Amino acid sequence: MGKGKLQKFADMAHYPHVFEHPYAGPEGVPFAMRGKWDEGFFGNGRPLTLELGCGRGEYTVGLARRFPEQNFIGVDIKGARMWTGATEALQEGLKNVAFLRTRIEAIDQCFASGEVDELWLTFSDPQMKKATKRLTSTYFLERYRRFLKDGGRIHLKTDSNFMFTYTRLMLEHNALSVEAITDDLYHSPLANGVLTDIRTYYEQQWLDRGMTIKYICFRLPQTGTLSESDVDIPLDDYRSYGRSKRSSLQTSK
Ligand SMILES: C[S@@+](CC[C@H](N)C(=O)[O-])C[C@H]1O[C@@H](n2cnc3c(N)ncnc32)[C@H](O)[C@@H]1O
Repeated sequence: MGKGKLQKFADMAHYPHVFEHPYAGPEGVPFAMRGKWDEGFFGNGRPLTLELGCGRGEYTVGLARRFPEQNFIGVDIKGARMWTGATEALQEGLKNVAFLRTRIEAIDQCFASGEVDELWLTFSDPQMKKATKRLTSTYFLERYRRFLKDGGRIHLKTDSNFMFTYTRLMLEHNALSVEAITDDLYHSPLANGVLTDIRTYYEQQWLDRGMTIKYICFRLPQTGTLSESDVDIPLDDYRSYGRSKRSSLQTSK
């Protein structure tokens, strides 16, 4: 029988590579590890990549296995999910992996200017109702700028046509540099390496329902004003929109 939530939390309280920063609002108190992830944990001076909304941490652990010369931190508010990746990393003795339990709204309290090289956003909720909650909104990009190196890469992998279109339009609107883009990853020339060899839990669920997976990689410069584009985007019809409607879990494409 699998472990319950309480047992997972008890396990993680003793994991040396799992950190927690209680959320005290978007402008709360800086976390003790801010600016000290290398000095206080990794100790190797190597580049750092974050997976935001990591769930079980498939990208965090999968990338760490493939790139031992880099460091990776999975970030999520749900500790019971990250237990899976955190336990795998521990059992495999991966020294280049950590997990951080916090709200992404507080992410800039956890990392100092220039401390992070790259970001992965894996199957983030498209937040169709409110732009400022979307992890590729200018609200979050402004936060990422506070700790991501100038021109740092951001990878978005999503099932959501809404999230994909929103992000594409936002990048066009702000003239941000797109390195790769496809609305059907598994049937595109990009379908190899970490983009398709690593599959997340949610990704597999969407693939099982016949959904296409979309991918965008772009760079975020430190300078330049960012603003939201004002285009209406068709909603994903297989998802709930607000609390009152229930998701039909039907496949649309
Ligand atoms: C749809 S799941 C995707 C999980 C995983 N990346 C995957 O593909 O299987 C979205 C994840 O983002 C996390 N999440 C959503 N909003 C968050 C926030 N504001 N702060 C921290 N985590 C958040 C959720 O807890 C959840 O684990």
